[in-house]
Amino acid sequence: MEITVSRKAHFNAAHRLHNKNWSDEKNQKIFGKCNYQNYHGHNYELIVSVTGKINPETGYVIDMGELKKIIKNEVEERLDHKNLNLDVPHFSNTIPSAENICIFIYDILRDNIDSQLKLSVRLYETPRNFVEYSV
Ligand code: NI
Repeated sequence: MEITVSRKAHFNAAHRLHNKNWSDEKNQKIFGKCNYQNYHGHNYELIVSVTGKINPETGYVIDMGELKKIIKNEVEERLDHKNLNLDVPHFSNTIPSAENICIFIYDILRDNIDSQLKLSVRLYETPRNFVEYSV
């Protein structure tokens, strides 16, 4: 029997959607306001879900204190109050769309969570727009 536990987190970050291989006109046409050259911010909401068997000795799937620390140290420290395009090397050549940010977060967390446990990351860019990634 498996069960899923989830932890919510939050960070603020700025970004700009811009494809360096396209003209300014094409970027403007495809990305609209999201291409604004001086960047814009979002209040990102993150839901990290971990699925696995309950450890009979603790009653836990994962220690939520540990999960909280991993998210804080590995994700929030990297992304909170950052300009994703300029401050996060990964996004110097990857467009920081919600899709790509979600996968970036997943990959970081995957390296830090027991491989026996399944992981799923949902990222809200706005209250109405969100993406979800798991493998
Ligand atoms: Ni945006």
